[in-house]
Amino acid sequence: MLRTHTCGELRKTDVGTEVTLCGWVESKRDHGGAVFIDLRDRYGLTQVVVGPPESNADQIDEAGRVPSESVILIKGTVTNRLEGKVNDKLSTGEIEVRTVHFEVLNVCQTPPFTPSQSDLPGEDLRLKYRFLDLRRSSMQRSMILRSQIVKSMRDYFETHDFIDVETPILGRSTPEGARDYLVPSRVHPTNFYALPQSPQLYKQILMVAGFDRYVQVARCFRDEDLRADRQPEFTQLDVEMSFVDSEDVVGLIDGLVVKVAKEVLGKEIKTPLPRMTYEEAMRRFGSDAPDLRFGMEIVDVTSVAKKTEFRVFRGTADSGGFVRGINVQQAASKYSRRQIDELTEYVKADFGAKGLAWFRVEEDGTLWSPISKNLEESHLAEIRESLSGQPGDLLMFLADTWEVTCKGLSGLRCRLAGELDLIDPKELNCSWVTEFPMFDWDPDGQRWNAMHHPFTAPLESDLESLSDDPKACRAQAYDLVINGSEAGGGTIRIHDPETQSKVFGLLGIDEQTAEDRFGFLLNALKYGAPPHGGIALGVDRWVMLLAGLDNIREVIAFPKTQKAADLMTEAPGAVDKEQLTELHLRTLKGQKD
Ligand code: AMO
Ligand code: AMP
Repeated sequence: MLRTHTCGELRKTDVGTEVTLCGWVESKRDHGGAVFIDLRDRYGLTQVVVGPPESNADQIDEAGRVPSESVILIKGTVTNRLEGKVNDKLSTGEIEVRTVHFEVLNVCQTPPFTPSQSDLPGEDLRLKYRFLDLRRSSMQRSMILRSQIVKSMRDYFETHDFIDVETPILGRSTPEGARDYLVPSRVHPTNFYALPQSPQLYKQILMVAGFDRYVQVARCFRDEDLRADRQPEFTQLDVEMSFVDSEDVVGLIDGLVVKVAKEVLGKEIKTPLPRMTYEEAMRRFGSDAPDLRFGMEIVDVTSVAKKTEFRVFRGTADSGGFVRGINVQQAASKYSRRQIDELTEYVKADFGAKGLAWFRVEEDGTLWSPISKNLEESHLAEIRESLSGQPGDLLMFLADTWEVTCKGLSGLRCRLAGELDLIDPKELNCSWVTEFPMFDWDPDGQRWNAMHHPFTAPLESDLESLSDDPKACRAQAYDLVINGSEAGGGTIRIHDPETQSKVFGLLGIDEQTAEDRFGFLLNALKYGAPPHGGIALGVDRWVMLLAGLDNIREVIAFPKTQKAADLMTEAPGAVDKEQLTELHLRTLKGQKD
């Protein structure tokens, strides 16, 4: 090693030791002939003094000129700082190193931003100069946390007898519901590999192969619309087990959550983690990944709405819709008419709601609203009681389809909780949502879609509804929710061919298509397939949530922008014509000659 110690290591007990340190020049102060440098590496900062009598004039001169963020090597002696100069905030704050040798290893050009500057540069600049951005202490913390989380996860599965098996990146399309990234084959003209959306089919085949406990930290690729918690390329902690039911998988992951939270954050999490069915989650919170760090539960007042003469409420209720609302406690004085108008615009624009009805609970317990004149007093009282309205509360309602009331009120709940500071940023709230529906009706395509994927097993008790009432058929599925985000999801798989073909039938996948797309899996399932199931945890999301961040790009070393571009390497980029020719491809535009 070029260095004897890191920049976070030296203490008072090292005084008198000769050391060699390497690092980046974070800052520099010239004090009348002596240059004080804060030398940084990922372990910390050490104050280095280049001055007389230890250093000569050339060294002092060179130190004075070295630009910040350059990499230097110094040799010197650890000494006590002068009285009054001790820095309590720094682990190395009691000492400094007085330099006898000063060497610049690499000069830093004027950087577009420095890692220590207090104002954060724009994200595009941060991504383009990611090597500088990753030097920032918060990015270093995130990457270290990520490494600790993955290690803690791996250790857990190792102690539970799981075997780590790698699965291909160049493979066949997997049915996770997103668009595939395709890779053209040079050897097989006009044929394409698909990058895996997940190792789903491979891990099922590993069960047939007898690896009854499989785990992999797997890279997944999905060409879908990106959001703050989605990347086109992301990492799953992927798990599959044989001879298990939902309870086994959920119980195993409960243990993982406890271990990771304890080891990484020092937090105690109680198990079993709370569980809620999908039906309950939608009814109480309007979301299949409900944020349980605050209340503001949804209440259904459709039965009251039916009795009123208010056109919006009555009309919706009579035509099979729902009138549902939330009580935003003690918020009446915090939201002006203009702010409520903004919330109205928000539910209209983001969730397709037709409007937002609201009431203020007055001191005397009556409800006031621009629309209260349309409602009888007894109905207003019923509405207030249904939501346990107290003076000062603000009650908000959507009259719409089940889906719009769910999405809109869930969106409102989360937005208002943020605005009203109802969330403790330190809380780690983990829970399960179970018994998802097997199918989702796609009104545009007039067809059923698999809510998870086509290999998901129905609940034993719902097998009959598979033929009679697909909408009512629930799956042996479970999602792990952390602070209102889907942090993982899995299912027990179908392992009997009859159920599988029924499900394919419902999904409109005929025998030939099933054979073409998943023939290899269906074939494997005919050769001694054990009952099996599993789960995949979104590693990037776990790190984001455990770090208390709200953007997944902050926990990925080299993430892509919302437009799926890497600003540092400028991927995706054009390629030479020869490369395309070799791949038997021609582009329609943007080809580089
Ligand atoms: P699913 O599609 O639910 O299940 O994915 C599992 C978990 O992966 C994370 N995730 C993502 N993270 C970042 N960016 C994305 N684009 C993204 N998409 C998903 C989420 C999610 O909960 N094969 C099944 C699992 C199984 O059935 O075992 C699967 O992939 O945290
Ligand atoms: P309108 O009669 O359309 O002017 O609506 C009267 C009030 O009811 C306005 O405050 C609207 O925002 C609200 N409103 C209209 N449609 C709905 C709806 N579908 N759900 C909840 N409130 C609504």
